Amino acid sequence: MAKCIGIVTGGGDCSGLNAVIRAVVRKGIDRYGYEFIGIKDGWAGLLDMRTTPLDKNAITGILHLGGTILGSSRTNPAKSEEGMKDVVMNYERLGLDALVAIGGDDTLGVAAKLYERGLNVVGVPKTIDNDIMGTDMTFGFITAVEIATEAIDRLHSTAESHHRVIVVEVMGRYAGWIATYAGIAGGGDVVLIPEEPFDIDEVCSLINQRKERGKCYTIVVAAEGCKPKNVEDMVTASKERDEFGHVRLGGIGNALAKEIEKRTGLESRATILGHIQRGGTPSALDRVLSTRYGIYAIDMVHRGEFGKMAALRGNRIVSVDLAEATKGIRTVDLELFDIAKVFFG
Ligand code: F6P
Repeated sequence: MAKCIGIVTGGGDCSGLNAVIRAVVRKGIDRYGYEFIGIKDGWAGLLDMRTTPLDKNAITGILHLGGTILGSSRTNPAKSEEGMKDVVMNYERLGLDALVAIGGDDTLGVAAKLYERGLNVVGVPKTIDNDIMGTDMTFGFITAVEIATEAIDRLHSTAESHHRVIVVEVMGRYAGWIATYAGIAGGGDVVLIPEEPFDIDEVCSLINQRKERGKCYTIVVAAEGCKPKNVEDMVTASKERDEFGHVRLGGIGNALAKEIEKRTGLESRATILGHIQRGGTPSALDRVLSTRYGIYAIDMVHRGEFGKMAALRGNRIVSVDLAEATKGIRTVDLELFDIAKVFFG
């Protein structure tokens, strides 16, 4: 009998999810003769047995599509013992031989726990935040950087015309990878990341330095999770927590624009890129990376390499322990951030 493999996509979506699903299913059917079941809406679908068959037709024509054909959610079965037991039971009821979990640290954290309970799980690292340990890059990140860079390019011309400061708020909850990459690529005049709390006096002095040399406009790229020195909490859009305990971030851009205008006298605006960074078609590079991840993940299933995640190391895809990959957050390499700093002011 053909082996039956489940696929689940969890957490915040990003571009490239469908490219991974397509690669896993295509190689799994054509080379290994597997059958596939898609789990709907992240772990929620495994808790209440909502699935969809994944044959070759289901994955045809989806490479370039944003989002995930399976749906996603931030449902966390690990928040109760009952939830975990239900997931294990339903994995068996569905007759799964293995499960490919595509997600960020939350989804992969659940995957690691399920592996400890005996399930054959393989992980694929997804997130625009690029903050998963054990891999040099997650898929979805580069597309988000492209979107943020284009936005910065466009904001440059309007900021210059109006002699304004524009604060561009990008995603990046605990790690400022998008801000750093898009800041370097888009020529951000100040880049603020969670890893290096900022001093508002220093930010304004950089803006004033530009003013003194006749440049009365500035682009500040701010990661949503950045915060001033000696301040505990990040600026939030809502204090409500999701099932993994995360508050909804957002608002640092507006707060900064207000403060900058007050201190420098330059008219200031904030642009919050938000979920635009997660939507739409993946870049060519993300399509390739997602495809490589998907192919490697199904090969891992075939080799019986469970409890591991496909990871990019240098230019090679390798496997790393899920337990290692989920033990913390991969923050920005400060040597890279130093490069962004050369262009501050
Ligand atoms: O997936 C990570 C992320 O993009 C974070 O950068 C951001 O804080 C969060 O998702 C927003 O998620 P939601 O979809 O719940 O608004």
